[in-house]
Amino acid sequence: MAKAKIQFICQNCGTVHTRWAGKCDGCGEWNTLSEDNPLAGIGGGPGKASAAKGREVALYSLDGEIEEAPRFHSGISELDRATGGGFVMGSAILLGGEPGIGKSTILMQVSVALAKSGRSVVYVSGEEAVAQVRLRAKRLGADSAPVLIAAETNVEDILATLKSIPKPSLVILDSVQTLWTSSVDSVPGSVSQVRSSAQAMIRYAKQTGTTVILVGHVTKDGQIAGPRVVEHMVDAVLYFEGDGRHNFRILRTVKNRFGPTDEIGVFEMTASGLKEVANPSELFLGERNKVSPGAAVFAGIEGTRPVLVEIQALVAPSTLGTPRRAVVGWDNARLSMVLAVLEAHCGVRLGSHDIYLNVAGGYRVSEPAADLAVAAALVSSLTGVALPDNSVYFGEISLSGTVRPVTQADARLKEAQKLGFSRASLSKGAGKASSIAGLELNEIEELRELVAQLAGGNKSKG
Ligand code: TYD
Ligand code: MG
Repeated sequence: MAKAKIQFICQNCGTVHTRWAGKCDGCGEWNTLSEDNPLAGIGGGPGKASAAKGREVALYSLDGEIEEAPRFHSGISELDRATGGGFVMGSAILLGGEPGIGKSTILMQVSVALAKSGRSVVYVSGEEAVAQVRLRAKRLGADSAPVLIAAETNVEDILATLKSIPKPSLVILDSVQTLWTSSVDSVPGSVSQVRSSAQAMIRYAKQTGTTVILVGHVTKDGQIAGPRVVEHMVDAVLYFEGDGRHNFRILRTVKNRFGPTDEIGVFEMTASGLKEVANPSELFLGERNKVSPGAAVFAGIEGTRPVLVEIQALVAPSTLGTPRRAVVGWDNARLSMVLAVLEAHCGVRLGSHDIYLNVAGGYRVSEPAADLAVAAALVSSLTGVALPDNSVYFGEISLSGTVRPVTQADARLKEAQKLGFSRASLSKGAGKASSIAGLELNEIEELRELVAQLAGGNKSKG
């Protein structure tokens, strides 16, 4: 029998240490290490199994029949889009997001929609009492739907309860941080508790074919608090994003064993729950100020879906020794790169200016294709001349100042045309294949060409 080995796990990031230390090497947090026995708990390590004789398992060849994973629709099409066409039976999904973003709300809406279509759903809340869950359902106008709810946190009790009823289609555990199993001696929310509890629930999903959704709270720095460890165990990881000042919520797929990972679902939080947004571009451009300098419309793509969004820049002379650079909704390093290219190749001096960059609507852009729109917004703010309001921008900028083509130019252009834009600035050759009626293409080979157009102050250009 293997000797039980004690290790120390950081409760914040999950880094394993062989000895105790005050500070975690992984995330730099203090006092987050706690003792953990890797052989304890459900699905405990090889120490227990080594005494027993192994069972032979079947080995298969690569060719052979492939069965399409059976799925069922959630009843909310934006969610189905994010999961790649509905919930796969027997799969485990982690839904992460900051507290208060609307995870419980969307899951209650899913439960209600499924229950109304005749599927059985069990909603286990470890954070709220049954009365609170009922109150939310009432607010969503759905208190009569046949959803089974429980307020419980012990995994053994939850599993016993699930075995005592006819097999449900979906089980929701809100949240994984509150779950605990009696086979591990640490507090709920600790890495070993979360890991063991999640493992037990995932095993239940695989054995029964019931889909299990685990809710996980995310801390400010973007990590699922403590249970980052759950991410690799589940089949799909969805993040619910948005910011407090806006009502838009974006459901982003970051991992999916059964579908694409770059899809998003868009919702709007209203007084009576989350409403689906079928055309996000209209929503993101809804509050657009067409006459102020520093705003450029970026024609982006999320998965297969084009999303037009406004990029806002403010460039102002700095009084600080080191000028301020603040970015919301885009990559900081990418902004530094665009600034360096503007300085080095286009003669745009921004070294003594504070720069603020914001993606409108609380949206987050991850594509490098936004480079050109960012550059246009920066130059527009610096010169004080508003960009033409009928124009969209997309293209990646290389360090040499060349504008590079990006994927799915056609889809971007079509969306721009649909929303009434009549001009697109893009890389040379990118729009060759497309001849979209009423859309003028401003092809740019080098970034300095765009800067020259904008600095010319000619409103019909750019
Ligand atoms: P909730 O789903 O409880 O968040 P999470 O489970 O991610 O912590 O959502 C909480 C917020 O949503 C809360 O601030 C109130 C708001 N809300 C609405 O605006 N409309 C609604 O219909 C509901 C149910 C909640
Ligand atoms: Mg909640």
